[in-house]
Amino acid sequence: MRSYIEETGFFAGHDPRDLLKTYGSPLYVYNEKIVRSNLRRLKGLITKYPYRTNYSMKANSNLALLRIAREEGLNCDAMSEGEIRLLLKAGFTPDRIFFVPNNVSEEELKFAVANGVMTSLDSIDQLERYGRIAPGSKCAVRLNPGVGAGHHKKVVTAGKNTKFAITDDQLDEMFRVADRYDLKIVGINQHIGSLFMDPEPFLSAVSNLIQMAKRFGKLDFIDFGGGYGVPYHKVSEDEKPFDFDSFEKKFEKLLDEAVEELGYVPLFKTEPGRFAFCEAGVLLGTVHAVKYNAGKKYAGTDIGMNILTRPTLYGSWHDIEVIHDGTVTTDDPQQITVTGNICESGDIIADSRTLPKIVTDDIVCVLDAGAYGYAMASNYNQRLRPAEVLITLDGGVKVIRRRDTYEDLFRNMDV
Ligand code: LLP
Repeated sequence: MRSYIEETGFFAGHDPRDLLKTYGSPLYVYNEKIVRSNLRRLKGLITKYPYRTNYSMKANSNLALLRIAREEGLNCDAMSEGEIRLLLKAGFTPDRIFFVPNNVSEEELKFAVANGVMTSLDSIDQLERYGRIAPGSKCAVRLNPGVGAGHHKKVVTAGKNTKFAITDDQLDEMFRVADRYDLKIVGINQHIGSLFMDPEPFLSAVSNLIQMAKRFGKLDFIDFGGGYGVPYHKVSEDEKPFDFDSFEKKFEKLLDEAVEELGYVPLFKTEPGRFAFCEAGVLLGTVHAVKYNAGKKYAGTDIGMNILTRPTLYGSWHDIEVIHDGTVTTDDPQQITVTGNICESGDIIADSRTLPKIVTDDIVCVLDAGAYGYAMASNYNQRLRPAEVLITLDGGVKVIRRRDTYEDLFRNMDV
């Protein structure tokens, strides 16, 4: 079995035991070198045409990491007022933020308008609400290209079975509403879903969106959304990374056709979230108990479903490396179910997984935890959310979010 953390020198020589001792267990650890290299990969995706990458900050909204994304020259999309506020705090100017909300209040839309943030409306109702707030202004609309894709039905966001976006047959009505409020639709966007390793659905959605673009006047930008996949089985099955090189060629060819069909060159954008930080983050936790039930071995850790929700919510797979006495072990493989410390039987990180022998006080290192990890964490069971640390380029360790305290937990109830 490969070891991702050894191959990448993930901890830059730091002993994971020391990290946990200093910053508490569990702990999210990010590697700045990997972060920057992934951001650069995304930024340079298309070079032939005017192109921008919007980092979709819902995947990881740590302020220090957002600042790195800003330094690397990415723009961002935001889903809520809170995300816009955080991006402004991270130093993004409003022209580098694209607000892509769903079912938002008048107040939230007003906040975006007051801050000069370009906004996309994803239903005719929301467009009308926006028109009442900011008649005569510029905006964008989110369209449903009819094709969806994703690792789980809960994250497929286009096609027939979704709450998102405006469909082809609603365009006439949409244009009427836009005219009524003298809105200038300067951009269109889509997001078909999260995590594809096979780019075909994304590429056919690109074609479909281009066809829909013909219904509009000259657009300033066309945004094709995110979804680039990450190989979550790279250690266990040697899964290969998303093939950006072949994707780029096919994507660029479609953009050639788009430019020809449209007769102008808009700014093209994509909107990846996961790819930016997923592999740059791991989650360390401690094994506090090993036990058997009906012959099944359980390794009970402090990584509850509140710390990493994805396995419970989607049945998602995360490769796990086991650290024994400070080093990665591959000894004595056996079937083990790795669980957390939350009061639910579904609190499982890995079910009946072949893993090296685990004993109490070992450390488990959950890979690919940098996206939709901390971002989806909660205080369920009144557990503290962990600290986040960054292994910096010079090999130092920087705390980029402190661990919750019990005061943090109770503050809002002190009323
Ligand atoms: N743009 C929009 C409008 C989105 O809603 C999303 C993700 C993205 C871009 C970025 O997609 P990505 O490149 O990260 O696939 N919690 C789930 C993923 C939810 C994705 C939500 N939207 C998970 O853990 O797999």
